[in-house]
Amino acid sequence: MPKIAPGSHASKTYHQFASYYEAVFARFFRDRIHHAIRSLNIPANAQVLEVGVGTGLSLPAYPAHAEVTGIDLSAKMLAHAQDKIDENGWSHIHLREMDAQNLDFADAQFDYVFAFHVVSVVPDHDRMIGEILRVAKPDAIIVIINHFRSKRRWVSKFTDALDPVTRRLGWRTTLGLEDIVSSHPLEVQRVYKSSPASLFTVVQAGKQAVQGSLLNGDGDGRTDRPLTQQAR
Ligand SMILES: C[S@@+](CC[C@H](N)C(=O)[O-])C[C@H]1O[C@@H](n2cnc3c(N)ncnc32)[C@H](O)[C@@H]1O
Repeated sequence: MPKIAPGSHASKTYHQFASYYEAVFARFFRDRIHHAIRSLNIPANAQVLEVGVGTGLSLPAYPAHAEVTGIDLSAKMLAHAQDKIDENGWSHIHLREMDAQNLDFADAQFDYVFAFHVVSVVPDHDRMIGEILRVAKPDAIIVIINHFRSKRRWVSKFTDALDPVTRRLGWRTTLGLEDIVSSHPLEVQRVYKSSPASLFTVVQAGKQAVQGSLLNGDGDGRTDRPLTQQAR
């Protein structure tokens, strides 16, 4: 696959600040990521893909009995992840430089696909979700962690106002969970926050489309109930 010049893509910011990324974000992101992965009890020999793996904050949480592939567009972010792999001798984890919007994998290849703090970063999230669904097996579990626009007006007004600033930093604050769920055959199984005040939502989904919506509440996914109960 041809390499993409770092300056020409949306991960430019992360590429430039790869060395500082963990100093800034690890304390906010790591626990939530690790909990999301560990709570799944990933079985032996499962094929796992993480898109936008970055510096590899997630990597310690993957069980050694799974086969894990991490991709990212930034070679510098990946270099930090590779250091972790080398230091820990994690032979079950492999990294590739790749665009999440154009995955170089066969259809239906992965049992688990993770996308942590990346959906609002890529230029075309619809294309990325489409690719995730393509490479996921029919019974795969997909887990997305992202900031989604709140349906609480005072919160969304605040985060919308921040959007011009965060765009310069490399992510958008205006994407709603319903924007994703309504345009893709995702069967949302669980939506939760790691803490009530968290700006980030954890979404666990399968590949089938569902009737109705999980998003009849405040849009923040502030409940951990299954879809059928929450929609009542
Ligand atoms: C906010 S960081 C999240 C990194 C990691 N998932 C975490 O939670 O710490 C976003 C990551 O997405 C990567 N990225 C941006 N655009 C991408 C694309 N089109 N394909 C793959 N990765 C991309 C960036 O290089 C960066 O590593």
